[in-house]
Amino acid sequence: MNHTDIDKLVNNFMVDTATGPVDKRVQQVVVRLVGDLFKAIEDLDLQASEVWKGIEFLAEAGARHELGLLAPGLGLERFLDIRADEAEARAGLTGGTPRTIEGPLYVAGAPESVGFARLDDGTESDQAETLFMQGTVFDQEGKPLPNAKVEVWHANLLGNYSFFDRSQSDFNLRRTIVTDADGRYQFRSIIPVGYGCPPDGTTQQLLNLLGRHGQRPAHIHFFVSAPGQRKLTTQINIDGDEYLWDDFAFASREGLVPSVTRINDPKEIAKRELDKPFASIDFDFRLLAEKPNAPAAEVDRIRAAA
Ligand SMILES: [Fe+2]
Repeated sequence: MNHTDIDKLVNNFMVDTATGPVDKRVQQVVVRLVGDLFKAIEDLDLQASEVWKGIEFLAEAGARHELGLLAPGLGLERFLDIRADEAEARAGLTGGTPRTIEGPLYVAGAPESVGFARLDDGTESDQAETLFMQGTVFDQEGKPLPNAKVEVWHANLLGNYSFFDRSQSDFNLRRTIVTDADGRYQFRSIIPVGYGCPPDGTTQQLLNLLGRHGQRPAHIHFFVSAPGQRKLTTQINIDGDEYLWDDFAFASREGLVPSVTRINDPKEIAKRELDKPFASIDFDFRLLAEKPNAPAAEVDRIRAAA
């Protein structure tokens, strides 16, 4: 079939059959996606067994809760970020901290504190490098923003996230820090490690067929928000990771790789009540002011809540 005939057929199947109220947006999207799928089947001469393989793959990915991992692995989540950047630029919104993907592992409801929080529960203190990370949340004019919310979450030394990994304590490595009167935040935690897709999962199965790895470099996730400001979804990477610029989720960006300072000074170590050297990262966030007619910065998706 040629593409024109396919378009006619899809209209026949999806539009002409409507007898009740139609959600025009859903209809438009379905007609387009089904049409594109039919054309791909035609152009690539996909066999019925291959089509069913695809359906079975998606069913299994869904059953294993891996669709949220497949989206970044296929670059879909990064593509949405590229489009969001372009839309903001068109609306005259530039100069904020770069956004990057949220990933599927945020959990709402983490304990909140003002100015400072310790993220880790101490169970990995012996093996981990202690991290202090601090900075200021600014608006786009460079004015510090008190009462901004810095939501932070990251993996443990096994590359696992609390809540999804039930062996960790509640909200381990997850906190919400409200910036102090000077717009400052600070947290104590551990330097996380990178992690990969479940080796026996559907995402990795597909990546294998594409000759791709499923590894992410070590990173820390953030939501940063404040009244009147656009919500920022981002991550920082831990410099030096072997996958720093080879992330299977395409989330590494210039401007999100702060340097890590190693502090050996006994006075500084004692001041923090530690018994070994620690790492320190300075990182400021710059938010963009909310603007009418700008595309929504908040992404509406189902998130875990504990
Ligand atoms: Fe992550």
